[in-house]
Amino acid sequence: MTQKADGALVGAGDITILKPGEGDLGYMLRHDVWGKGYASEVASALIDAGFRDLGLNRIFSTVSTENTRSMRVLEKAGMRWEAHYRRFAQAKGRWWDCHLYATSRPEWEATRRD
Ligand SMILES: CC(C)(COP(=O)(O)OP(=O)(O)OC[C@H]1O[C@@H](n2cnc3c(N)ncnc32)[C@H](O)[C@@H]1OP(=O)(O)O)[C@@H](O)C(=O)NCCC(=O)NCCS
Repeated sequence: MTQKADGALVGAGDITILKPGEGDLGYMLRHDVWGKGYASEVASALIDAGFRDLGLNRIFSTVSTENTRSMRVLEKAGMRWEAHYRRFAQAKGRWWDCHLYATSRPEWEATRRD
């Protein structure tokens, strides 16, 4: 992700396809640009690209139960909570509980404006 104004690199986002038709959405931003709506913009853009350009049927994301900021980003991008995974990810010397968020092609098609 680069800023339109000056081209500065501010973050990265991706969709990983681990099985046909299903994508795993992820993103991260430079700390000094948090709160400007960039993550929400990129999450929506990647979801659009996943369904429109990659032909996916389902896109999901797993997020730490402590990461309320990212959960808000996923909800604003149209994802819905599906599950609570206990001790799902290991990082920074401990195990973390995670929430599973997801959206599907029919849901995305129902909200398209074009
Ligand atoms: C998650 C991350 C990308 C969010 O970036 P961001 O630029 O702050 O996201 P946005 O500005 O698009 O949106 C943040 C939303 O969370 C809200 N928010 C901020 N702090 C919050 C908090 N403590 N609790 C709940 N919501 C919060 C903001 O108000 C905003 O919602 P709004 O538009 O309704 O006001 C960023 O924090 C990050 O890079 N974190 C480290 C990597 C990471 O966690 N990646 C995601 C893994 S699933």
